[in-house]
This record gives sequence, structure tokens and C-alpha cells, in this order.
Amino acid sequence: MKTKNQVEQGLPSSAYTSESYFHSECNSLFLNNWVFVGFAHELRESGDAIPITVAGQPIVLIRNAQREIAAFHNVCSHRCLKLVNEPMNVGSMICCPYHSWTYNLDGKLCATPFFGGKEHVPEGFDMSEHNLRSINIFVWHDWIFVNLSNDAEAFEDYAKPLMNNFEDIDFNKVKPLATLNFGKISTNWKFLMENFIEPYHVQFVHRTTTSQPLEDHYTIVDGVCVGSAIDLDEENKVEGSLSVSSRYLTLFPNFIIGRYFPDQIGVHLNIPVDSEHTIQKRVIYSTEDKIATPEEIDAMKKLWWEVHKEDHAICERMQLGRASPVSNDGGMLSPHWEDSVRAFQKMVVDSVTK
Ligand SMILES: [Fe+2]
Repeated sequence: MKTKNQVEQGLPSSAYTSESYFHSECNSLFLNNWVFVGFAHELRESGDAIPITVAGQPIVLIRNAQREIAAFHNVCSHRCLKLVNEPMNVGSMICCPYHSWTYNLDGKLCATPFFGGKEHVPEGFDMSEHNLRSINIFVWHDWIFVNLSNDAEAFEDYAKPLMNNFEDIDFNKVKPLATLNFGKISTNWKFLMENFIEPYHVQFVHRTTTSQPLEDHYTIVDGVCVGSAIDLDEENKVEGSLSVSSRYLTLFPNFIIGRYFPDQIGVHLNIPVDSEHTIQKRVIYSTEDKIATPEEIDAMKKLWWEVHKEDHAICERMQLGRASPVSNDGGMLSPHWEDSVRAFQKMVVDSVTK
């Protein structure tokens, strides 16, 4: 029987290196959960469209005429061509470049030129049965989530453990200040998640960029929301270094949100590419409607760039270590500092074997 303080092993290396495991995640974990896919502020105007890939499937996010964001399978109903190939404004219609089948921003099929020969609509062809296929979407403030399953739990129920941590924030005052595009990182998406979730590495990896003593941290394990936190006194703030009270939270599977008191939020978009690569982007927000000067924004970007580059270097070496047979058993997790990582890994295993 397990005792509370028992050391446990991590996931076997194949969970991070095997394409077939990544495939299994696409067919279960990314298919059945609310996956974080983008930032609403990047779709400003009606007609703005961003193609994304979730669970290996082409999907398009689009701001419609009512200025709501919708998600569709990014595939023409005619010959199944990928409709939107790059971020763009499609105007008031999405037109397939192959044979000009045209859809409005709600995905309704509006034109099928010459599909019946001289007729545009062949006999017996019901256009209303060939609209774009929509996908479950929920936009929580600036953050867009989709769920590809047919019986998705309501997002607000699913994400409640995370949302509870933000009840004191006036989201009308939350404004994006800057974006850091990290590009492609040579590591499995789970290493980036696990790294964010545990506080154990902070004092060693971020020795010069942060001033957050390990003993002041604690882990958070609350259902699909896992992470860590630290409570510090304002007077101990160190300029040019991360030294404020913080909450490092995640929503399973891939949403990362850091809250840095008194007035900052940072959100990571992690896009798994394959078993060994992840694209990452981070948006920095002010929570107090603050207008930061260009110098302040540059200082923020510089600090976060350095902190995350330190994390990425570690995650890439975590990936390299998985080529050794020594990693087959998954290494070990601290029962105290990495119980949050253990909880994340358990959700991965439960999702994949469901
Ligand atoms: Fe870190």
C-alpha cells in the first residue's frame, strides 16, 4: 500500500519519445478534453481566421459577423481540401480555392458554382446538409478552448478548479501587453507542462532570474488544475528578477497561466507538433488596465524571455535523456515538490487509456 510520502516513478520514456504514444494522445487525450488553442485578441475583426491543428486535425478559428469566435473543421465539403491555409481575413465569406464552394462566416454553404453542370445545384442536392462542421468552443476571456468530442462536459464545470483562482480579478481590466514567440522547442509538450507545474527546479535553474526561495512554495493539486504557488512579502521584491507572490497554474491538458502579484498574468500556448517538438507562445497581460511604457514592456519581455529560455534548455535536455535505457522506468518524483507533476501524469495515463 502506498504511503503519503512515497517516492513514485515518472512516466516511461516512450510516453515522450514514441510517435505511436503521441498518436494515442491525439486519439484520446486531445480528442476528449478541452484543449487550449489560441488568443481571442488575435482575431480582432470579423472575417479574421486562424488555422490550427488539434489532435492532428485541421481546424479553423474564425470571428463571425456577430463578432463571436467559432471553430470549424477546416475542410471543404466538396473535395475535403484544407480551406484556410494561413492566418488571414477572409472577408464575409470563406471561398474554397479549388472549385469556389463558398461558406459564410457561420459555416453555411452558400454557393456551389456549376456543381450540377449548367446548374449550380444538382437535383436532389440539399446544400443545407453540407455546411462546415462546427466544433465545441469556449472563449474564457482571451483564451480559446475547443473540445472535439461529441459529449464534452460544459467548460465552466470542467475548468471550475482553475477559475476559482481568478474570482477576485476584474477581467475587464486584463489587457495583453506583449507576446513572446518562442517558436519550435525540441521537447515533448508534457515536459513543458511538468516544468511549469513543479517549484523544485526554480532555485537551481532560475538562480539569477528569480528570487523565490523553495521553502516558501507549495504545490496545488485540485482536480484538472495542478501547479504551485508562493506567497512573499512585497518588501522583499528584487528589481529585474521575479520575486513576487505567484500562482503557477495549469488546466489539463495544455493550458498554462501564471499569476504574478500585484498586476500581471502570463499565459502560454503550447502546441504539440509531434512526440519531440512543441511550439510555444506566451502573452503577458496587465490585470489593472495599466498602460506600460515601451521600456517597461521591454524589461518584462527580457525577463520572461530569459526565464523561459532557461526552462526550454532544461526541457530539451529532459527529452535527450529519454534516449537512454536508464529512463525507461521514468526516473523519480519528489513526494513533496512533484506531487503536482504526478497528478498531471496520472491524468495523462487516465486520458490515454480511457
Ligand atoms: Fe522554470
